[in-house]
Amino acid sequence: MQRLIPVLNKDHVPLHLISVINTLLTAAKEISHRLHQGSLAGTLGSTLDENIQGETQKKLDVVSNQLIKNMLLETNLVRAVASEEEDDIVEGNPDAKYLVAYDPLDGSSNIDINGSVGTIFSIMEVPDHAAEGKDMFLQTGDEQVAAGYILYGPSSMLVMTTGQGVRMYTLDHSVGEFLLTVEQVTIPKDTQEFAINMANDRFWAPPIKKYVKDLLAGEEGPRGKRFNMRWNAAMVADVHRVLCRGGIFTYPADCRNLQKPCKLRLMYEANPMSYLVEQAGGRASTGYERIMSLQPTEIHQRVSVVMGSANEVSTCLGYHEEIKCDRFDA
Ligand code: AHG
Ligand code: MN
Ligand code: MN
Repeated sequence: MQRLIPVLNKDHVPLHLISVINTLLTAAKEISHRLHQGSLAGTLGSTLDENIQGETQKKLDVVSNQLIKNMLLETNLVRAVASEEEDDIVEGNPDAKYLVAYDPLDGSSNIDINGSVGTIFSIMEVPDHAAEGKDMFLQTGDEQVAAGYILYGPSSMLVMTTGQGVRMYTLDHSVGEFLLTVEQVTIPKDTQEFAINMANDRFWAPPIKKYVKDLLAGEEGPRGKRFNMRWNAAMVADVHRVLCRGGIFTYPADCRNLQKPCKLRLMYEANPMSYLVEQAGGRASTGYERIMSLQPTEIHQRVSVVMGSANEVSTCLGYHEEIKCDRFDA
């Protein structure tokens, strides 16, 4: 089994970038340890606070955010970090080259039920132009130099890309290292499995409503085949399944709250996951545009997400092309 660093060296990933990734993994091992301790670590449950997104913070959201932020800034290799759990960016070494955007704990409603959660990261370089502060982060997904996640499930796994395909690594607790377990991840082009929060059906726009209705119609419907549904309520766990065996993962815009039609965040969730999915041969779109081509305007902005098996995503996008309607998110 190969260790992480020799694999990245072979790909000629810059040493400083390897150090940034390695620092994220040191934090992830600590988070993994605390999650495995569960109630014994005394860190389950919620805080009394809300984050910038207006969501209740879990104690482990806060702990994970602090661990990642402090460790990254201590390396002196990071110019600034942006986190789902921070109102604003946090600046580090003004001469450093890297920017890290992250979701410290994704799927955090799963923490208290001992379900799968994850850490998602997206690494960019400081842009050449004279951007300052949070504007430095407003780069398209195409400009990411590395992205990935750590899934804390029955085993802890790192899934990562530096633009040369996607690899999976499994944490070996006996040596405290992530060891390479899948050399090249490829998402099958076709699938019979979809992931969506069906409880939002009545709030969806017509294209996604019709697409899901046709999936549910099975052999007798226009798709002529039966589809199965899975929903972990943690994007990391749902996209991990898609990377392992194909599928389509969607979190479409909905009209529950027109001030906030989309749930998933572009910089912390959609872009890094899109990079992985595309590198593994899949597609990632908002339903109308390729996610990684979007020019961000705000670090905490949210987008509609449709990603996974290439042919299935294309079919879903076909519904968006054909059924003309007003968009909640435009
Ligand atoms: P987070 O815990 O970082 O706020 O993210 C949760 C996200 C995502 O992981 C998941 O796919 C989705 O929210 C679950 O949404 P529902 O509550 O609608 O199931
Ligand atoms: Mn999340
Ligand atoms: Mn989160």
